[in-house]
Amino acid sequence: MQTKILLDENQIPKQWYNIIPDLPGPMAPVINPRTLKPVTPEDLQPLFPMALIEQEVSTRRWIDIPEAVWDIYRLWRPSPLFRARRLEQALGTPAKIYYKYEGVSPAGSHKPNSAIPQAYFNKQAGIRRLATETGAGQWGSSLALACSLFGLECTVYMVKVSCTQKPYRKSMMELWGANVIASPSELTQAGRSILAMDPDSPGSLGIAISEAVEDAANHPDTNYALGSVLNHVCLHQTVIGLEAQEQLKIAGDYPDVVIACCGGGSNFAGLAFPFLSDRAAGKQVRCLAVEPASCPTLTKGVYAFDYGDTAKMAPISKMYTLGHDFMPPGIHAGGLRYHGESPLVSQLYDAGLIEARAYRQNACFEAALLLARNEGIVPAPESSHAVRAAVDEALLAKEEGRARTILFGLSGHGQLDMAAYDAYLSGALEDYEYPEENIRRSLANLPRIE
Ligand SMILES: Cc1ncc(COP(=O)(O)O)c(C=O)c1O
Repeated sequence: MQTKILLDENQIPKQWYNIIPDLPGPMAPVINPRTLKPVTPEDLQPLFPMALIEQEVSTRRWIDIPEAVWDIYRLWRPSPLFRARRLEQALGTPAKIYYKYEGVSPAGSHKPNSAIPQAYFNKQAGIRRLATETGAGQWGSSLALACSLFGLECTVYMVKVSCTQKPYRKSMMELWGANVIASPSELTQAGRSILAMDPDSPGSLGIAISEAVEDAANHPDTNYALGSVLNHVCLHQTVIGLEAQEQLKIAGDYPDVVIACCGGGSNFAGLAFPFLSDRAAGKQVRCLAVEPASCPTLTKGVYAFDYGDTAKMAPISKMYTLGHDFMPPGIHAGGLRYHGESPLVSQLYDAGLIEARAYRQNACFEAALLLARNEGIVPAPESSHAVRAAVDEALLAKEEGRARTILFGLSGHGQLDMAAYDAYLSGALEDYEYPEENIRRSLANLPRIE
């Protein structure tokens, strides 16, 4: 029985899987925030290259991965699939637990899977600089890496609370040549208006997105890159699930449940979408998205049209949302602090095709330690949400005395998250209550779209 199930380099997928043609119905239109009419490709051109705009709306099931992107994927892909035998033993569960480990990428998470093609298509379109936001620093460092590989400049608006929590993520981005700005900043109108209301604002992904979008919109040689949420980002991430399917074939197994943590949704999409497509072929598989109890977008949000950012500059999408001005508490899983959810993941959740669950951060860190002490890998705080759910599924199998196969996504390592682990180990980690009042207030500000 193998511990690591590895593929050869030439088994890296040659195409991404696009779930759009397999959705239960048509997608809701994306709305221009200025005109409140459906966006046209021309509306998106100040921000994105045409190749990515085309991917955003493509109804082709399979989309070729360009040779230059595939060649860079080879630096760390295929990523390993592990059988967590030591964790299974520690839990005394009859369940088989597998995890797909994306922490082997140079930036330490799944994010380069999309950063590389985004930088590539922008370079092809003659763009000189990319502007973006980052929460945990994982996306910012991935885009910094991708820009350095393709010779692009990179400006990263980093959520202020994460700058303090994760100073070495900032160093990493600078090492790859990016310019990192704490958000909210004085450099943009969006940042200045937030600071005027609250000079001590800890920032949020929604604010950082506004700053990056404004920067890109005001500079013709600069485009914007988003690390999650959008259809093309979910598309790029499907290399994860496509590889996992091949690896499970080698192991002679098929999952009963596929689990991944969910911020903007691209990590979950990347692992789960290829398995969801198997359902059409008659496979029985549950897909479970896991989110923080303090930012419970799927489990406590509403399915409605909302802005993607705080300053209402990004397009309006139909998605699960907590409201574009919702300010989540400063939990350590910074990459899961986003008010909205990928429209694709949202539509699947609304249709009852996937499940969602929320956990508080202490329960997640408890599971992260269990993984670290049995399997060795220190998970990113974001990924620890998936670990928690996998452990709970395994314990349920034990209680019911039923075998089951669990696959979870270990989306990144937490080796730059020691401040979070220190806080947990010293008992100083707070479990934030579900901020019902803040969410209610924020949901009152949703745009009205006919
Ligand atoms: C390690 C890790 N896992 C998961 C996520 C959430 O990703 P997504 O927005 O794709 O859901 C992040 C986001 O930054 C992350 O850094």
